[in-house]
Amino acid sequence: MKSELVNTDPLFSSIELGPFTLKNRIVMPPLTRSRSTQPGNIPNQLMAEYYAQRASAGFMVTEGTQIEPRGQGYAWTPGIHSAEQVQGWKKVTKAVHDKGGIIFAQLWHVGRVSHTTLQPNSEKPVGPSDLVADNVSVFIETGPGQGALAEPSEPRALTTAEVGELVNMYAQAARNALEAGFDGVELHCANGYLVNQFISEHTNKRDDQYGGTLANRLRFLKEIVEAVSEVVGANRLGVRFAPLFESTDEERVYLGLVESNPHDTYIQAVKLLEQAGIAYLSIAEADWQNAPDLPQAFYEAVRAEFSGRIIYAGKYTIEKAVNVLAKGYGDLFAFGRPFIANPDLPERIANNWPLNKADAATMYGGTEVGYSDYSFYQK
Ligand SMILES: Cc1cc2nc3c(=O)[nH]c(=O)nc-3n(C[C@H](O)[C@H](O)[C@H](O)COP(=O)(O)O)c2cc1C
Repeated sequence: MKSELVNTDPLFSSIELGPFTLKNRIVMPPLTRSRSTQPGNIPNQLMAEYYAQRASAGFMVTEGTQIEPRGQGYAWTPGIHSAEQVQGWKKVTKAVHDKGGIIFAQLWHVGRVSHTTLQPNSEKPVGPSDLVADNVSVFIETGPGQGALAEPSEPRALTTAEVGELVNMYAQAARNALEAGFDGVELHCANGYLVNQFISEHTNKRDDQYGGTLANRLRFLKEIVEAVSEVVGANRLGVRFAPLFESTDEERVYLGLVESNPHDTYIQAVKLLEQAGIAYLSIAEADWQNAPDLPQAFYEAVRAEFSGRIIYAGKYTIEKAVNVLAKGYGDLFAFGRPFIANPDLPERIANNWPLNKADAATMYGGTEVGYSDYSFYQK
């Protein structure tokens, strides 16, 4: 993340996003931190403090928040389906707004990436088909405040009627997000979770109108985008994808499920979003060591097909952000791990101050340690 010799001014020019004017182009991306209050997965004052500390970001998106009880795949992640959760989120949105921040809620359903112990009545997780997720672990509770990694359980395939009900659940979650004071919502369609499971030829073996052809596999996304747009307005809606063009690391395949034709799959999806007129598209690039870069042709096609704002993330350095902005491919740049460790990341970037490093051991679950106790820069 060194920024010596790089002119970071372009990252600090303001930009419109839907009805909002953002103060800079530095985004806090969705980051699961698993610190909601139990029981009930309720957002709390500690979370409000953590988000408010980071409100100098031009734009913020919450950690993935489950739209319904079956949408949970990891212990202690917050939801946005109960009245208590909506009340809890009000603390977060108020604290962020008091600091001048703009924050969207990331609506999440893990689909098959879950475990029976996290599911209502210990039932099987649901997905487009009954294929087990491999090469991925979920995080289950093993006792008060304790968790452990586990293999995802065998899922069951949703009926056609249930898919329609899920679309309504997304719309209801969006309604809840507005009630909680969020400025808009982002649909989590990345990283191998439910919407991605519908899009992917590897996880969707359905023979109804939601499976088979690419248009059918994109139907669930299309219906959710339409239903949620009606609730929040397309200009307060973003969608996140994680297209993966090659797999260099078997364990990470789940994050982006490599399609046989990722370019066509995702450009078709982008065209659909363009037609819907959503505010932004967020692209999560592969972020592990030796991760493959997105092909140049993909960056170009996304820009050509989509007229809204484009956010990129994934191991971005300041140099890369400035570069991709100069090329015109992206408008906003999200920094995940740097934002975990540096509540004042924009100020540090602007002033070329050194950055704290994120501690991997305290990312998921726990207390304020490794969460709201990262230091602001002291001159
Ligand atoms: C601890 C942690 C939790 C994350 N949780 C989410 C999440 O809830 N939703 C999501 O779309 N991406 C999630 N991501 C991915 C980040 O949004 C981002 O794309 C990724 O960290 C790459 O950016 P970085 O290299 O700057 O950290 C998470 C990443 C980390 C490190």
